[in-house]
Amino acid sequence: MNVLKQALGHITGGMVLDVATGRGGSIGVLQRNIKSHSVVVGIDNSEANIKQAQKSHGNEDVLFIRMNAEDLALIDHCFDTVCIFNSLHHLVNIRQVLDEMKRVLKPGGKFVISETHRDGETESQLTIVYIHHWIAQIDTALGFVHNKTFTRRKIIDYASGLGLSDLVIHNRVIKDKDPFNEKTIRRYEKYLIEKYLQRAKEALDSQRLVEQGAELRKRLHAVGTQTQEPLVIIVGEK
Ligand SMILES: C[S@@+](CC[C@H](N)C(=O)[O-])C[C@H]1O[C@@H](n2cnc3c(N)ncnc32)[C@H](O)[C@@H]1O
Repeated sequence: MNVLKQALGHITGGMVLDVATGRGGSIGVLQRNIKSHSVVVGIDNSEANIKQAQKSHGNEDVLFIRMNAEDLALIDHCFDTVCIFNSLHHLVNIRQVLDEMKRVLKPGGKFVISETHRDGETESQLTIVYIHHWIAQIDTALGFVHNKTFTRRKIIDYASGLGLSDLVIHNRVIKDKDPFNEKTIRRYEKYLIEKYLQRAKEALDSQRLVEQGAELRKRLHAVGTQTQEPLVIIVGEK
């Protein structure tokens, strides 16, 4: 059983809030893995992402609303489940967002944090982590909020700070596959390195970022990569 199913499969979601839902990728993860739900609401502060999410999930019972997660325009205790997927490292005020999520969660409701982290265990696992960090630096140089991924410990500390009960921590254990899989290397070169090298050229600090991209391309061929980043999923109860 995959780790998302293991972590979320027992959750009777009821009214579910997905914070920083992006283009709706995490809605798919929820729908595939949660035991059941009545309604899912996805919020994000990017108009473009909300529009894209509405396009991809137009026919389903999912509601997307543009909203700032630091100041949710929602009454207290109105959701049975609140979730945030792969977005802690995209937030300016993490603590404030998590507190807001807790405020709108009913007593006894489930709180889910799923986040990739930087603690890869093998060199090929670390390649995808380093590529992610390089992309984060390019986004930052271009004015977007995108931090490097956190350590697994730091993410657990954020969850522990919420004072939830029955905190359960699930880890995606990566079983290394062929790090030099030709298709993967070609895909990463084209859709990550080359794409972001173009973007890096628009940044003020472009020379350093372009040089780092060249180093990462070398690393991709010398060390190889895995396709999944390390992931921790934390589920607690209010
Ligand atoms: C990596 S993306 C979304 C990931 C999505 N949850 C998924 O797993 O596919 C991070 C998102 O956080 C959103 N975001 C950042 N700060 C936010 C805030 N204060 N309020 C709402 N959304 C925010 C961004 O607009 C972006 O769509």
